[in-house]
Amino acid sequence: MSDIKKIKDEFFQKLKGNLNLPELNEIKSNLFGKNGIISLQFKKIGSISENDRKKFASDLNKIKNELQDLINNKYNEIQNAEINKKLEKEKIDVTLPERNFVRGKIHPVSQTIDEISSIFSEIGFSVEEGPDVENEYNNFTALNTPDNHPARDMHDTFYLDEKRDKLLRTHTSPVQVRTMLNDKPPFKIIAPGRTYRSDSDQTHSPMFHQVEGLHIDKDINMGHLKGCLNYFIKEFFEVEKIRIRFRPSHFPFTEPSAEVDIGYEIKDGKIKIGEGDKWLEILGCGMVHPNVLKNVNVNPNHFQGYAFGIGIDRLAMLKYGINDLRSFFDCDYRWLNHFGFDPLDVPTNYRGLSR
Ligand code: DAH
Repeated sequence: MSDIKKIKDEFFQKLKGNLNLPELNEIKSNLFGKNGIISLQFKKIGSISENDRKKFASDLNKIKNELQDLINNKYNEIQNAEINKKLEKEKIDVTLPERNFVRGKIHPVSQTIDEISSIFSEIGFSVEEGPDVENEYNNFTALNTPDNHPARDMHDTFYLDEKRDKLLRTHTSPVQVRTMLNDKPPFKIIAPGRTYRSDSDQTHSPMFHQVEGLHIDKDINMGHLKGCLNYFIKEFFEVEKIRIRFRPSHFPFTEPSAEVDIGYEIKDGKIKIGEGDKWLEILGCGMVHPNVLKNVNVNPNHFQGYAFGIGIDRLAMLKYGINDLRSFFDCDYRWLNHFGFDPLDVPTNYRGLSR
C-alpha cells in the first residue's frame, strides 16, 4: 500500500471517532502543520521519478482535500454539539419582571430656550451664539458703555484677568456686537445663552440665562418692537389676551430705552398672565443707540432698529410655576424628574426647532 493510502486510511479512521476540540486540533497540526505528514509528502514530490510524479501529486491533492473537508465537518459538529449543550442548560425565565430603566428629562431652561427660539424663528429671526468668556470691548465699550460708566457697576462683573480685559459676559448683548461686526445689515437675530454676575439670592443666581434680540433694517421703529414683543409674550404664555406696559428706562446701548412689564394676578395659588392688576418686569429693550451702530460699522443714517434682552430663567419660573431660581442649578435629580420634560412627550404648543 502506498504511503498516501496508509495516511488516508489511518486518519479517516481517526476522524470518524468521537473527538473533542484539542484532539481535533492535534490531528490537524499532525497533518498540515509545518512538518505535518501531508506537508512532508508535498516536499517529496520533487524527488519522485517523472513517470510517477503526476499521479502522485494528483492523489496527494485529492487526499489532502478530503482530509481537510473531514476536519472542517468535525469542527462544525463539535461547535453545534456545544451550542446544543448550552441551549439545553440555559432557560429563559419569561416571568421575570423587566429591568428598571431611567429616562432622562429635559431641563426647564433648555425647554424654555427651545420654545423661545421656535417662536421667534416663526417671525424670521435666526439664532446666533456667542462665547461665555468675552472681552471688555464687546461686553461694554462697543455697547456705548465706556470705562467708568456707572452702568458697569450694576453688572457685578466676574473679571478673569488683572487687566480686566477678559470677563464672563454679564449679558447676551455682546452677541449683537459680534453679529454686526461679522456681517452686513439687515440683521434679525436672537441670541440665547448663559450670562454671569456676582449675585445670589432667591431671584438671582451667579449664572443665569438671557435671550438677546436684535432687528436692524432701513426703517424699523418702536412700533415694530411693540408688535414683536406682544406677539412673543402671547405665544410664549399661550394666552389670547395680555397686558403689557412699556416703562421708560435707561440702557447705554439704546435710546429711547424701556423696561417691559406684563400684567398678572395670583389665583388659587397660581399665576395668571394677562389678568388682574399686578405688574411684573420681564425684559429691557429700546432702539439701538447710534453710537453702537457706529462702533460696528453700520451707518446710523441708513439703518436703525430695536434690541431687547429677556431673562429666560424668570420666564421659565413664571410659565412652569417654579419659585426659587436657585433650584434650577442645584442638579437635584428629584427636582429635575418633577419639573423636567419627557424628551418623547412633545408639549402641544411646542413647535420644535426643526420644523
Ligand atoms: N443687556 C441688558 C441687561 O442685561 C438687557 C437689555 C436691555 C438688552 C435693553 C437689550 C436692550 O438688548 O435693548 O440688563
